[in-house]
Amino acid sequence: AILILDFGSQYSRLIARRIRAASVYCEIHPFDIGTQFIREFSPIGIILSGGPESIFMDASETPRAPQIVFELGVPVLGICYGMQVMTVQLGGEIETAPAREFGYAELFTSSSRLLQDIKDRISSDGKPALDVWMSHGDQVSKLPPGFTAIASNAATPFAGIADETRQFYGLQFHPEVSHTLQGKVILERFAHDICGASYDWNMQNYVEEAVGRIRARVGTDKVILGLSGGVDSSVAAALIHRAIGDQLVCVFVDNGLLRHHEARQTMETFSRNLSVNVIHVDAGRQFLRQLEGITDPEQKRHAIGREFVEIFQQEAAKIEGVKWLAQGTIYPDVIESAGDHLKKSGLIKSHHNVGGLPETLRLKLLEPLRELFKDEVRQLGLALGLPRDLVFRHPFPGPGLGVRILGEVKYEYTELLRQADAIFIEELINAGWYEKTSQAFAVFLPIKSVGIIDNSRSYEYVIALRAVQTEDFMTAHWAELPYTLLARISNRIINEIRGINRVVYDVSGKPPATIEWE
Ligand code: XMP
Repeated sequence: AILILDFGSQYSRLIARRIRAASVYCEIHPFDIGTQFIREFSPIGIILSGGPESIFMDASETPRAPQIVFELGVPVLGICYGMQVMTVQLGGEIETAPAREFGYAELFTSSSRLLQDIKDRISSDGKPALDVWMSHGDQVSKLPPGFTAIASNAATPFAGIADETRQFYGLQFHPEVSHTLQGKVILERFAHDICGASYDWNMQNYVEEAVGRIRARVGTDKVILGLSGGVDSSVAAALIHRAIGDQLVCVFVDNGLLRHHEARQTMETFSRNLSVNVIHVDAGRQFLRQLEGITDPEQKRHAIGREFVEIFQQEAAKIEGVKWLAQGTIYPDVIESAGDHLKKSGLIKSHHNVGGLPETLRLKLLEPLRELFKDEVRQLGLALGLPRDLVFRHPFPGPGLGVRILGEVKYEYTELLRQADAIFIEELINAGWYEKTSQAFAVFLPIKSVGIIDNSRSYEYVIALRAVQTEDFMTAHWAELPYTLLARISNRIINEIRGINRVVYDVSGKPPATIEWE
């Protein structure tokens, strides 16, 4: 496997994605994971990520790579900050760049194993040129012994460097971002040709491996899992069921805040089709009671989270001999905080789908999706035979419709919202827009506006529609749905749902708006 040492760049995850997309297994770990770990990991190659720091600061304050990285005799690729770290640690020098470079840059390459024959065009004076994406304020000013420049332009003479003998490479630009057009090819070149990685990361192998691992860990113990109907917990359930069959007990808590038919579909898929042992807890009323009188979004989240934990514990207590709690934690959940000691991100909304369950359950944690990205989780879901519409579902927040009804949650509102949401989603699917959006849903606004229906005045609620496009849900654009489609959806909602006489479309980006309204 390839080891990626993370110096806290927001792009570190993308490096792993690209490497895995090249069918090579890799893992990201913090740069200070320790010499022992790295030795035992026994990587076939190491990538040093970018980072937010300036290398100039005191060596005791700014991160360095563990020296073993350069002593294992395996290829090393330093990206941006990673390149600067490598330079400094191997005897070169860094300076503040005369001009900071952010965004697009054109580089010219000279022969090297890493960049050979990779180009976007040939320049007018006959040199291979690459379009890359840069983001740096510092740059290499003196090469370490043994290194030569392999890519440069007028502003950055050492934009790419190499010591071919030791197979150490450095790139000042970011090959992992899509704006670097040949980035994918460059990372594949490093993984396959330079590190000699084989193409052994695929889902079928993975299923077998994962099944074996789960069996070995769990033995004959019983495992409990909270099934939500979302992609992650569903795939986790299917995988664990494949491994240990009826030793897995799923608890599906219907909190009354699910989408139209969601409970029925989940039970059908798991209980009927896959013969998974699922306990269906119909707790809608209980949740609504807990939410009575609460209008603050965070308080609603806490009330829903608390009630869920309560019910889940009760159910868990009924099952004899449970030793494990399984969760559908995925890789981004795990490494979200990899660079946390470098950059603190403020809490914007509290999420309840991870963690949540307190230690009082005294169960061992089983998280078989911990190393997978969302798209890999989906591939795994398909490989395990889950239906496509479940596997490609948009994400749905743990508190469900509870945060899509503004202010106090009432049963009447949940019913209106469910209907509107179902119409919206159905029309998006029919128009081929569901897959082109990352998340789409209706929001219930508990305010009334005046309308006219059958020649008489109406005074009814408002539905807002939200559809966004995003890679990572950190930033998002509102989707430019065709007017004709919006018109059809609006007509259907207003005509088919008694109680709604107005539909609006949300045209706010994130930031500053969030995706959910609460
Ligand atoms: P925001 O609204 O913060 O949402 O832009 C980003 C993503 O997170 C989801 N989200 C939640 N998921 N529990 C969850 O499990 C929550 O409380 C929660 N709040 C937001 C949201 O649906 C979007 O995908």
